[in-house]
Amino acid sequence: MRKGFFGLVTLCSALATVLTQTVEDYKVTSLPGIDLDTLNFTQYAGHIELSEINGSTMFFWMIEREVKTEPEKLIIWLNGGPGCSSMDGLFLENGPFRVNKDLSLSVNQGGWQNYATNVYVDQPVGTGFSFANTDSYMQTMEQTTEQFILFLDKLFELFPDLIKQDMYIAGESYAGTYIPYFTTKILELNKQKQKYNLQGIAIGNGWISAEHQYNAYYDFSIANNLISPDRIPLVSTNLKKCQEEVKKKNLIHIKPCEKILSDVIDSSTHDGEDGEKKCLNIYDIRLKEETSPYCGSTWPYELTEVTNYLRQSDVKKAIHAEKQTLGWKECTSLVYSALDNDQSKPSYELLPGILKKIPILLFSGEFDLICNYLGTEYLIGNMTWNGGRGFSKKTKTEDWKIDNELVGYYKQERNLTYVLIKDGSHMVPYDKPIECLDMINRFMNVGSDIVKGKKSIVGNRETIVTPPKDDEKEEDKKEDKEEGKEEGKEEGKEEDKEEDKESQAAQQDDEWSQYYSWGTTTLVFVILFAIALCCCWCRGKKPSGSALDQFGGAPQREREDLKKPGLLTTIQNLFKSNKTNAARKFRLGDNDESNELDELVIETPTLFEAEDGDSDQEEIPTNQYRNQPERIN
Ligand SMILES: *[C@@H]1O[C@H](CO)[C@@H](O)[C@H](O)[C@H]1NC(C)=O
Ligand SMILES: *[C@@H]1O[C@H](CO)[C@@H](O)[C@H](O)[C@H]1NC(C)=O
Ligand SMILES: *[C@@H]1O[C@H](CO)[C@@H](O)[C@H](O)[C@H]1NC(C)=O
Ligand SMILES: *[C@@H]1O[C@H](CO)[C@@H](O)[C@H](O)[C@H]1NC(C)=O
Repeated sequence: MRKGFFGLVTLCSALATVLTQTVEDYKVTSLPGIDLDTLNFTQYAGHIELSEINGSTMFFWMIEREVKTEPEKLIIWLNGGPGCSSMDGLFLENGPFRVNKDLSLSVNQGGWQNYATNVYVDQPVGTGFSFANTDSYMQTMEQTTEQFILFLDKLFELFPDLIKQDMYIAGESYAGTYIPYFTTKILELNKQKQKYNLQGIAIGNGWISAEHQYNAYYDFSIANNLISPDRIPLVSTNLKKCQEEVKKKNLIHIKPCEKILSDVIDSSTHDGEDGEKKCLNIYDIRLKEETSPYCGSTWPYELTEVTNYLRQSDVKKAIHAEKQTLGWKECTSLVYSALDNDQSKPSYELLPGILKKIPILLFSGEFDLICNYLGTEYLIGNMTWNGGRGFSKKTKTEDWKIDNELVGYYKQERNLTYVLIKDGSHMVPYDKPIECLDMINRFMNVGSDIVKGKKSIVGNRETIVTPPKDDEKEEDKKEDKEEGKEEGKEEGKEEDKEEDKESQAAQQDDEWSQYYSWGTTTLVFVILFAIALCCCWCRGKKPSGSALDQFGGAPQREREDLKKPGLLTTIQNLFKSNKTNAARKFRLGDNDESNELDELVIETPTLFEAEDGDSDQEEIPTNQYRNQPERIN
C-alpha cells in the first residue's frame, strides 16, 4: 500500500518533468550580466536526457543565427579535452559572449551566430554541465560516437527545423578526434537512409594523428628554439623511442611519446623575476613566463571569470542547467581518464573516407605548441585522399587579407582546405575572432567576402576572372558593386526582421506545439523508469576511484585541481559546499575542497552508497596532473 503510494508520487513527479520538456522551457528569457533585448539572436539551453536507466544527460546551449540564409546553416561546436566543456567556445572563442571582470557580459564581435545557428554541446556525458547518475563514463570512441548521435537525434526531435538545415560540425583540439569519428558514423547512417544534412566539418588545432603530431612536437620546438641545446640529445632519444612505439601500435595517444612535450616544458622552466618558477605556455609559445607547473593550464586568464560566471545560481537557472548540482568546471578529469585506455585508431585514418563525401577545413593558429600547425601540415602531406597524396605541387598557398592586411594563408584542393592563421594560439577564435568568423563564413559560402563591414580576400581570385589589363579598375568596380549588394541585403533583412518577428513567434508556437504532447507517448517508459529509479536509489552504483589511479599522460587539459584557490574562493567554497554539496559530509570525511573529489559525488542517491563504501575509497593523488599539465581542449 505504502509502496504503491510512493510509486504514484514518483510517477506523477516524473510525468510532470516529462510533460514540461517543451521547446519553450529551453528558451533563455533572461541572462544575468546582459539585457537580452539588446541582442539580435534568441537562445535555447538546457539538458537532454539520453538514458533513463543511468540518467545520462547532455547539456547544450543554442545561439540562433542573426541573419537568415537560404538554406539555413547549423554549426555544432565541440571543445576537446577529452572532458573539457564547450562553454570555452561560447565564452572564450567563437561564441557571442565575453565575460567581464564584474561578471557582466559583452558581445564578441566575432561570434559565429552571424549567419549560422550554433549549438555548443558539453560532451561526452560528465563534461561541463552534462552528467549521469554513474561515473562510468565513455571508454572508447565507439561509445562516445553512439552517445553523440543519440544526442543529435534528440536535439532534432526537439527542434525539428534544424534537421533540414546545412549542418557543420566544428571544434578544436581533441575534437579533432571526436569529429571525424562522429562524421564517419553519420555518413554511414546516411547510406542506409539520408537523414543528416551534413555539409562539412571544421577542426582547429586538432589532435588527429599521433604519428605526425609527436614528430611535430620535436621539429616545431627545435624550429622555435624551445629546447635548450644541452637537452636536445635527450629529447631526440625520447623521440626515437616514441617513433618505435608508434610503429608497434598507432593509437590516438601513445604514452611514451608524451615525454617529448614534457621535455620541452622542462627545458623552458626557469626562475622568474619574482623568484617563482616559470615555464612556457603550451598553447601559445609567445607566453614564456607562465607560473610553473601550470604552463598554460590557467590560460586564457579570463577563464577565472567564466568559471565564476557559470557558477552563479541565477545563471544556472537562466540556462536551465540546475539539474547538474555540482557546478560547472572547465575540464573533468574522470571523463578524460575513462577514455585514457581507448584502443581506437587515430582519426587521421578516417579523413580520406570523409573527404570523398564532404569538405574538411583544418585550421591552425601559428603559435600553438600542443597541436601545432607543423603536425597538421605533416599529416596532410602524408595523407592520400581523392586520388592523390598531399596537396599537389600546382596548388599554391594563397594570401588571405582582411582590410588589406595579411591575416593568414589558404590552401585548398580535393575537398580539403587548410588555413594557417597568423598570430593565432591553440584557441584561435580567442585571439582572432574576426578572422575565424570570416573563415567559417567562407567555408559555409555565406558572407559575400565581407566580415563585419571589412573586405576579405583569399588569393587573387578576382583577377583570375577579369582580364589582367583592367585588373585594378575591375576590382574597384566589383568591390563597389559587392558592397552595395551587401548593404541592400542587410537593409532588406532588417525590414524583414521586424515584420517577421511577430509572425515568427506565432508560427514557432504553432509548429512546436505538436511536440508539447510527446510526453504522453512516453508514459509507458515513465512507469518503467519510475520502477527502475526506485531500484537505482536503493542500489546505486558505487563510485570507484580506480580511474584516477591512471596517470593521464596524454595531451589534455586538466585545470580543475591546478588552481590555487584564493582565500576568498576558499571561503566562498565553504558556503557553496554547504549549500549545494551538503552531501559531501556523508562521504570520505575529507576536507579537501578540490573539484576532483566533487566528481565522485555523482548524485544524491549514490552518496549513501559511498558512505558505506568508505573503506575502499582510495586516496586521490592531488597532484597527479601537476607534473604534466598538458591538455587538449
Ligand atoms: C543588432 O543589429 C543592429 C542592426 O544591424 C546593429 O546595429 C547592432 O549593433 C546589433 N547588435 C548587436 C549586439 O550585435
Ligand atoms: C547509460 O546508459 C546507456 C544505455 O541506456 C549507455 O549507452 C551508456 O553507456 C550509459 N552510461 C553513460 C555514462 O551514459
Ligand atoms: C567532394 O565533396 C563533394 C560534396 O561537397 C562530393 O560531391 C565530391 O564527390 C567530393 N569529392 C571530390 C573528389 O571532390
Ligand atoms: C610526413 O610526416 C613526417 C613526420 O611524421 C614529416 O617529417 C614529413 O615531412 C611528412 N611528409 C610530408 C610530405 O609532409
